[in-house]
Amino acid sequence: MNQVAEESREEVWKMFDQISPKYDLVNHLLSFGIDKYWRRQLIHHLPKGDDVRLLDLATGTGDQLITIVKKAKQVNSALGLDMSLEMIRRGQRKIIDKPYAHQITLMEGDATAINLLDETVECVTMSFGIRNVTDVDKCLEECFRVLTPCGRVMILEFSLPRNRVIRGLHLFYLRHVLPNFAGWISRNRKAYRYLNNTVESFPYGEAFCDKIKKAGFYRVKAYPLTFGIATLYVGEKLPCGNDL
Ligand SMILES: C[S@@+](CC[C@H](N)C(=O)[O-])C[C@H]1O[C@@H](n2cnc3c(N)ncnc32)[C@H](O)[C@@H]1O
Repeated sequence: MNQVAEESREEVWKMFDQISPKYDLVNHLLSFGIDKYWRRQLIHHLPKGDDVRLLDLATGTGDQLITIVKKAKQVNSALGLDMSLEMIRRGQRKIIDKPYAHQITLMEGDATAINLLDETVECVTMSFGIRNVTDVDKCLEECFRVLTPCGRVMILEFSLPRNRVIRGLHLFYLRHVLPNFAGWISRNRKAYRYLNNTVESFPYGEAFCDKIKKAGFYRVKAYPLTFGIATLYVGEKLPCGNDL
């Protein structure tokens, strides 16, 4: 992990509190809207059943939760936790008058010390959050602990494309275009420099699958999305034989 990313990670909530007013706008603009497509991919891998309780860690302004609750009929209740109160407040304002509002609860909470009993949810999701936590292994262990036996973890995170040309273009975008443009819109260049540093230094593909397996998960799979700019990781608490 490089030093800039490691130092900044300690102050991560302050940073997300500061950029919360422009967070959604910057996300959609800088991913050209592809983030919506990536979020929808999780729906194909949700556990089956008719009363899935879902926990979304580092939920931010709730976009991942909202996408799931709107489209996946089997998810009846969803809890979103985040350390940044400003991000949560923005999320609450987005859902307050929506027909699915009663299904969603957004609260302050730490992904590395989840305030839930063991085996209480069928699914844990985390989108673009894992690379921001101070202790990744602890967070994965917590996911394992709160899941029911056939429960499933789904982690969506940025990664780097394998193709050298696409990777080169993407790195140019990450290093030069993204921090300047996002910094200008959000008036916080430091925050988006941090984003670039964490994307480049965070393990992905097989290396991240190994971390998930180390936490105890079975049948861990990685699904690269859009040339590998993002990857969806799915794992099961016990090998229950359901499609991942
Ligand atoms: C890049 S945002 C992702 C937000 C949202 N999941 C999404 O897909 O847009 C990362 C979020 O992680 C949160 N975060 C960082 N460390 C955390 C922790 N230990 N526990 C809970 N949330 C955390 C930040 O406050 C921020 O809202």
